[in-house]
Amino acid sequence: MAAFSENLGGEGLTHWVSKAPDNRRKRLVAKLAYEEFDHGHQIYKLLKDLNVDEKLVNEIATGRAQNSNSIHTSLDTADAIYGDAGELWLDLALHCILMDTAGRHIVSNFAESSYGPWAEASVDIAKDEIMHASFGKHELQICLAEGLSGELLQERFTYWYARSLNFFGPPPGKSARILQHYGIKRKTNEDLRREFQQEIESYMTKIGLQQIMKLNTESYPYD
Ligand SMILES: [Fe+2]
Ligand SMILES: [Fe+2]
Repeated sequence: MAAFSENLGGEGLTHWVSKAPDNRRKRLVAKLAYEEFDHGHQIYKLLKDLNVDEKLVNEIATGRAQNSNSIHTSLDTADAIYGDAGELWLDLALHCILMDTAGRHIVSNFAESSYGPWAEASVDIAKDEIMHASFGKHELQICLAEGLSGELLQERFTYWYARSLNFFGPPPGKSARILQHYGIKRKTNEDLRREFQQEIESYMTKIGLQQIMKLNTESYPYD
């Protein structure tokens, strides 16, 4: 699931290369996309060492594998994670701030995993996710300086905030207990979601935008 969603993250970003307003940002977005594919590559490689090839990983992630006994919730398509990526540069900025920070919380949990090679790879991946969110924060400041209607900002923020909260998956069930028992995932989706919310809340307070942290639905699936 982790490898598959890193790959999707890369694919989502490639569409933004042609939309980037200047060469500096085209290069940066292309670099971000490369890093997401590289995160995927690192995890696919670890799985290959366990005799699970990329094709099977993707079939398990999308729920298409026969008799896989997967304990994961499957993802139907890229839309399951990213959905409509929006059209505005503001969308990319919010995507990087929210989705990459959410990704970093998820990956940091893997960095505590009882499976050493995965834990080791996750430490480096989490560092990249911090950079990706920083890029988004910088771009959001530019969007704000260029003038933005409060209504539009509110609408796009709610969209991405809900999406990033859903990114953690459903509240813990049977699979969470199994993963915790073996030390694969130390914290549950709910623990991670709360930690993420606290971090975003303190960031939004710092930039004076805490008043736009509104959701239409306050529980999973968020909206
Ligand atoms: Fe990533
Ligand atoms: Fe990222």
